[in-house]
Amino acid sequence: MSNKEQTLSIIKPDAVERNLSEKIKSIFSKNNLSILETKKLHISKEEAAEFYKVHQSKPFYDKLCNYLSSGPLEAIILEGENAISKNRELMGATNPKDAKDGTIRKLYGISIDKNSVHGSDSVENAKVEINFFFKA
Ligand code: CDP
Ligand code: MG
Repeated sequence: MSNKEQTLSIIKPDAVERNLSEKIKSIFSKNNLSILETKKLHISKEEAAEFYKVHQSKPFYDKLCNYLSSGPLEAIILEGENAISKNRELMGATNPKDAKDGTIRKLYGISIDKNSVHGSDSVENAKVEINFFFKA
């Protein structure tokens, strides 16, 4: 049975800064994830705090919000068969050191915090996160 999904990808500030957006988007396209919409923007720390509020109790939360708001990012709506898990697979493990060869984080991630990409982790969060960046 087919399972077409949409998910939110973010090319994080460390990757936008190094001009990796086109390379990362070509990995999505090659793997049958269509790019439906993209938006490049620089969010405030308050917006980053809202986006990452599921992590508000974590020790890395403040640093994470500073980082996500440190420069322009590119938000992308991806669509395709099992897009949520497919994108997570293409991204690789949170810590680039643990990510498998060929994954985006292995190729381009700098560290556990500057790990180049975000991807929604569930159908529910994908909806909320797409709405965060692309609400009408
Ligand atoms: O991004 P992912 O879903 O793989 O990981 P997460 O556990 O949802 O964490 C969100 C983000 O917080 C990560 O992508 C990292 O940028 C950051 N993080 C961090 O800076 N230090 C950690 N120990 C864990 C996560
Ligand atoms: Mg996550």
